Amino acid sequence: MNEIIDGKKFSQALRYKVKNYVQVIKEKKGVTPGLAVILVGEDPASQVYVRNKGKQTLEAGMNSYEHKLDASTPSEVLLGLIKNLNRDPNVHGILCQLPLPNHLNEKEVINAINPEKDVDGFHISNVGLLNTGQKSMIPCTPLGCLLLLKDRLGDLSGKKAVIVGRSNIVGKPMANLLLQENCTVTITHSRTENIENTCAQADIIVAAIGKPEMIKKEWVKKGATVIDVGINRVTKKIESNEKTVLVGDVCFSDMVGLVAGVTPVPGGVGPMTIACLLANTVTACYRSQDLSDPEFT
Ligand code: GUN
Repeated sequence: MNEIIDGKKFSQALRYKVKNYVQVIKEKKGVTPGLAVILVGEDPASQVYVRNKGKQTLEAGMNSYEHKLDASTPSEVLLGLIKNLNRDPNVHGILCQLPLPNHLNEKEVINAINPEKDVDGFHISNVGLLNTGQKSMIPCTPLGCLLLLKDRLGDLSGKKAVIVGRSNIVGKPMANLLLQENCTVTITHSRTENIENTCAQADIIVAAIGKPEMIKKEWVKKGATVIDVGINRVTKKIESNEKTVLVGDVCFSDMVGLVAGVTPVPGGVGPMTIACLLANTVTACYRSQDLSDPEFT
């Protein structure tokens, strides 16, 4: 089997499934799933993400509502907008693009979103539900990683999974998801001693620490499956020219011939994140109509 896990191709198939579920609920209930995205300020990377989200939402047959607010928007205005979106029956998913300008309290803003519409899965209720193995909204990036792992490996039960990075957005929810799949899970981070040895025991490595090409061949057991969540912009010398390139947290060239599967950067986990956001929006819409959850695995 090809050792490269093609997230781009997989995400296309996932978006196709989303589109079908959108069609079904339109016909069954006369309801079109709607995603509202809020962008505060003009961070260039966030602008690109928001544009892509809007485009792909429309391509899936859903409604997209973009709310672009000035960087100096007062907290009460942003919270007022969220309150209105919480009440709006045409909006099934709400996402507030992070990072927010410094004067806004990220936790307060996220927790103002109706948990049932929290398609990021960042609301404290969803975090608690996931943590206790209950039905919740699952954060998009870990969900994308899980779908890729299950597609590649099938049953994950009993596998040793090592997660590198302990963020609220990736590391911690990833650990919970893999525990639910009956993996034996270890979370490592910047202060972990002998991190290399811990990783070298793993059947599955999920790298989400934000350190360019940190994970080398000595860190990885032969036949392991490696999911690289990192997106790092670095300058590299290519034929005596300095070029800016994207690399992951894993040294990709070291993995060739060693692993059973590895996600490339770009083209691995990245495209899965937006596809999972669309999937979560459809799930939120189905739940709002008391229908059983769509199946994306
Ligand atoms: N900024 C970067 N990634 C994300 C994400 O997954 N969700 C939100 N809301 N903001 C982000």
